[in-house]
Amino acid sequence: MISLVFFKPEEHLSGVSYSLDENQLRFTASANQALQSIEAREDDDAFPITILVNNIPAGFFVLDFGNDKFELTENENSVLVRSLSVNPELQGKGIGKAAMLQVDDFVRKNFKDCDEIVLAVNQKNDSAYHIYLKAGYIYDGKTRIGRSGPQYLMYKKI
Ligand SMILES: CC(C)(COP(=O)(O)OP(=O)(O)OC[C@H]1O[C@@H](n2cnc3c(N)ncnc32)[C@H](O)[C@@H]1OP(=O)(O)O)[C@@H](O)C(=O)NCCC(=O)NCCS
Repeated sequence: MISLVFFKPEEHLSGVSYSLDENQLRFTASANQALQSIEAREDDDAFPITILVNNIPAGFFVLDFGNDKFELTENENSVLVRSLSVNPELQGKGIGKAAMLQVDDFVRKNFKDCDEIVLAVNQKNDSAYHIYLKAGYIYDGKTRIGRSGPQYLMYKKI
């Protein structure tokens, strides 16, 4: 069973400390990099989330309510999903897709004012783009240049 919980360092850190290869690091930050960046910025607007499979950490992403989202939307009540990854040993088993399908409920339950989820995905990242589409995210033609090239900007009203 796949579930989403707020990241707890003492319970989840080792489980999300998997390495991503160079190819995948073009498209996302590792959990450790994302956590370090949140810590370095003393960022209260970014919430690290652990993806659990049968209560064991299998993946990670960040719900970021900070200003970076305004590169994608003008909506103050939105949240940016970033730094999504699934442990490479567990990829391709439906975990990423199931997690993205559950984000809406998680956000609705924990952040009552939030009414939209936005994200940016590299145009070469076929599997990620595919799961976002399957999870109901819409791409309506907006792009931007990201750290590894053009990205589709996607959104979902919740
Ligand atoms: C992207 C990522 C999170 C997906 O997680 P996952 O658990 O492996 O994904 P799932 O198994 O749920 O789904 C993969 C889907 O992509 C599809 N897919 C795989 N390769 C594909 C390709 N080349 N083109 C199109 N679809 C592809 C699979 O068919 C599957 O879809 P389906 O279930 O409808 O058949 C994971 O691969 C990852 O951590 N990648 C590295 C980091 C990354 O790119 N993060 C996203 C940043 S935006």
